[in-house]
Amino acid sequence: MSSIFSRFASSRTQWVPFAVGGAAVAASLYYSTTARAPVANETPAAFKGDNEWVDLKVNTRHFYFALPSADQVSGLKTASMLLGKYVTEKGNNVIRPYTPISDNDQKGQIEFVIKRYPTGKFGNHLFSLKENDTVTFKGPVRKWEWTPNQFENVTLIGGGSGITPLWQILHEITKNPEEKTKVNLVYGNKTPEDILLKKDLDAIAEKFSDRVKVHYFVDKPVDGWKGETGFITKDWLSKNVPHPDNSHQVFVCGPPPLYEAISGNKVSPSDQGELTGALKELGFTKDNVFKF
Ligand SMILES: Cc1cc2nc3c(=O)[nH]c(=O)nc-3n(C[C@H](O)[C@H](O)[C@H](O)COP(=O)(O)OP(=O)(O)OC[C@H]3O[C@@H](n4cnc5c(N)ncnc54)[C@H](O)[C@@H]3O)c2cc1C
Ligand SMILES: *[C@@H]1O[C@H](CO)[C@@H](O)[C@H](O)[C@H]1NC(C)=O
Ligand SMILES: *[C@@H]1O[C@H](CO)[C@@H](O)[C@H](O)[C@H]1NC(C)=O
Repeated sequence: MSSIFSRFASSRTQWVPFAVGGAAVAASLYYSTTARAPVANETPAAFKGDNEWVDLKVNTRHFYFALPSADQVSGLKTASMLLGKYVTEKGNNVIRPYTPISDNDQKGQIEFVIKRYPTGKFGNHLFSLKENDTVTFKGPVRKWEWTPNQFENVTLIGGGSGITPLWQILHEITKNPEEKTKVNLVYGNKTPEDILLKKDLDAIAEKFSDRVKVHYFVDKPVDGWKGETGFITKDWLSKNVPHPDNSHQVFVCGPPPLYEAISGNKVSPSDQGELTGALKELGFTKDNVFKF
């Protein structure tokens, strides 16, 4: 495990490991709540030492899947995803793309951060798995071929679990000592608790403070919130990210409303669709923007 992911693993406050072995592609599953570590004095504390049990909601899990053999790497190159599949009791295939967050060179294991939606088919299936159950995957599907110093500036705009492909690019850029690319990550969520990979993102922003900036947006802030509030807007982008240029590439990944506001939606996995929204109004062209 790379140091980044050791840090990530230790960054969660609640961990319940369940070992999952299995011959093919199975996993050690861990799940975490999104509850955060203690913060400044005046901030209300969830645990008060009053002998009360507090219910914490599980909504996103960090999944560790064992690769078929311990000496294998996943074979992914940034930026890529895998397709996961399961067959329902009625015999229907449910197939969904997921983006690993683990290092491409990591051996024996692959990691994902996956969010469950109340009626989500694949998410609910994954969250119901037990020790030694297996999940079947195929791929990789390459979405973007990142090469070192491909651009002078990169802007990553994401929402919710859309952080995962953006994380791959940010990780690729910051693990390579030859890289000079400057990055602005603009990451929107409903509440501060929903921010995925926050410790890792903060650590990168601190370590590479000369060329990586991380900007968080939340719809519903809490007392003491130091990031931005509300939606990512054209005005904010015009003041905080570099202007359009052929050496400035923007990557977008998030739920449909985020695409609508920022870049316009994709038409299909192979058709990026027209560029609309805030980026178009700011003068970016279709070639300057990639929608995951
Ligand atoms: C390239 C790519 C990479 C992806 N990587 C990841 C990843 O690393 N981690 C991850 O968790 N997901 C990722 N996704 C999303 C993932 O593929 C599924 O779409 C998601 O897990 C929902 O699938 P489901 O079967 O659980 O829900 P579905 O049965 O497809 O959806 C059920 C309902 O859940 C709600 N819902 C589904 N998706 C969203 C959403 N994004 N925002 C708000 N509501 C929603 C909707 O109300 C929907 O009707 C990625 C998607 C793409 C295209
Ligand atoms: C899971 O698989 C491992 C290795 O084959 C085995 O030792 C363990 O007992 C299994 N656990 C369950 C719950 O089946
Ligand atoms: C890259 O961003 C810096 C500001 O961080 C700016 O000075 C420079 O002009 C930008 N270059 C391109 C090609 O966008």
